[in-house]
Amino acid sequence: MDELLKQAANIVSNSKMTIALTGAGVSTESGIPDFRSSGGLWSKYNPSEFATISAFKADPLKVWEMLHAMDKIVSGAKPNAAHIGMGDLEKMGFLECIITQNVDNLHQAGGSSHVIEYHGNSRTLSCLWCGKSYSAEEKRGSFPPVCECQQVLKPDVVFFGEMIPALAMNRSLELASSAQCLMVVGTSALVSPANLIPDIAKRNNAKIIEINMERTHLSDGISDLFLQGSASKIISALVNLIKNKGNKII
Ligand code: OAD
Repeated sequence: MDELLKQAANIVSNSKMTIALTGAGVSTESGIPDFRSSGGLWSKYNPSEFATISAFKADPLKVWEMLHAMDKIVSGAKPNAAHIGMGDLEKMGFLECIITQNVDNLHQAGGSSHVIEYHGNSRTLSCLWCGKSYSAEEKRGSFPPVCECQQVLKPDVVFFGEMIPALAMNRSLELASSAQCLMVVGTSALVSPANLIPDIAKRNNAKIIEINMERTHLSDGISDLFLQGSASKIISALVNLIKNKGNKII
């Protein structure tokens, strides 16, 4: 692992442009379960019943049971060392931007200011019928949260069957096409179209550094380096190596 960490630090410190693609695994150490690990959210809630836009439209109250349970966990969560370390990398000039599939706001809370929320965010709620928008905070006491037009509100997260926000999609494609290094952190990279980002980066000659607890389809394929283990421990170690050794690591 020490050798892999040194190689990763070398790549990041020599890259003119590094970006990151993150997923739920970056937030498990903040107490938020991921989706597909054992005990993950999808082992409790069937995504076709709870996470599609058609399911929400058919029975918003049922879907809000899951959203409400998640909100209780997410609203009290604090950034962990992985979020904070990635924020430090940005401040040190080693990380251009994070493309996250997470909707928990923890990268921003951890000090990152360039964050693309690929699957939307849970800070705001919108009415699918009249279009009015509210802050989630303002509606936190009500279950389910309703609009002034009395329709049940939907969080501005991307459900299966919905489009990726256009700006997030376009900017991510642009970044993936021009990055020299892509860090893939805490994602199974199974969900499309986010899972195209590593392929696009690789085709444009970026080095792919993968940090995940378990192997993924990327690990034996396009990842140049696979660092297996806790994102918070690995990112902290990486940041320390880059900090201590300066710009060029040999
Ligand atoms: P997954 O649950 O599919 O994958 C989480 C990944 O993080 C797995 O590879 C885990 O091994 C890894 N992991 C877990 N804990 C970790 C830790 N402490 N350190 C490092 N790695 C860890 O979650 P995502 O890939 O984010 O979309 O899922 C992608 C999308 O699927 C989500 O955004 C969500 C979901 O359905 C929508 O709902 C649209």
